Amino acid sequence: MSLIVFGSINLDLVATVSRLPIAGETLAGERLLKIPGGKGANQAVACARLEATTHLVGRLGNDDFGHQLLLTLQEAQVCTDGIHMDQNTPSGVALITVDAQGQNSIIIIPGANACLDRTELEYLQSILPQATVFLTQLEVPLSLVQEAAEKVKQAGIPVILDPAPVPQNFPHALYGLVDIITPNEVEAAQLTGIAIEDRESATQAAYQFLEWGVKTAIVKLGDRGVVWANHEETGFLPAFPIRAVDTTAAGDAFNGALATALNEGLSLQEAIQWGSAAGAISATVIGTQPSLPDRQTLEHFLQEYD
Ligand code: RIB
Repeated sequence: MSLIVFGSINLDLVATVSRLPIAGETLAGERLLKIPGGKGANQAVACARLEATTHLVGRLGNDDFGHQLLLTLQEAQVCTDGIHMDQNTPSGVALITVDAQGQNSIIIIPGANACLDRTELEYLQSILPQATVFLTQLEVPLSLVQEAAEKVKQAGIPVILDPAPVPQNFPHALYGLVDIITPNEVEAAQLTGIAIEDRESATQAAYQFLEWGVKTAIVKLGDRGVVWANHEETGFLPAFPIRAVDTTAAGDAFNGALATALNEGLSLQEAIQWGSAAGAISATVIGTQPSLPDRQTLEHFLQEYD
């Protein structure tokens, strides 16, 4: 029973500031942190911290950042046999600004993440026979994500897609390959064209994804909770009451915990509860991977709010 994450690996350079700068402004920040990140790596670490056997398929540069990032993933018990070290392109970097309210802005320099090719697809195919859940995002080449999803689907393994960041031209054929899509409200609005203002509009967006061929749509509304829909049920879960200091990896924590719970055979509603709890815990800690909860922390948090 193993989980495959197919996606990006970045070094996050995080500046904490009282507020986000406006265009043309120079602003003094408070702290600069160098933290392992990337949506793929964060989601793989989120799964591994919750004790899922997790393989990450992705690419790093053969540089100092790349070697550091590889080591961090190995320390987190992520299987890194599917990580290729690119000889010609540097590792991916994300420049992140976090304000006093925990809101962020992110600029990504993809580097090696943009170079995934048949090497990663072939490796993915070789590990599909042991896989039970597949989780991916959109920080690596879109055409490759689609090909990967096709292969995973053919193998009868469920595909979870975190559609972040939303590309300019999202290929509609990809929707038909997705079992569960997990946009936040901004991504859901960008993809469907529906302004997400409340629970009703989020549910409407979820229905739109179903019409396009997705089996289950989960729309994350941050501190307003989570809405989901499939052809059998529609649901809503309020957010856990926490004080957010950095929401950067909250979505990654959500996806990792959701995938792990489903991998263990929990119901969709229970898996969404795990995801929401992991996202809430992650938002209370600065940084991406350091904020992802381990299993004991998650179980304790869930018991506390039961
Ligand atoms: O989701 C957060 C992540 O987005 C960061 O770790 C950053 O690297 C970007 O990929």
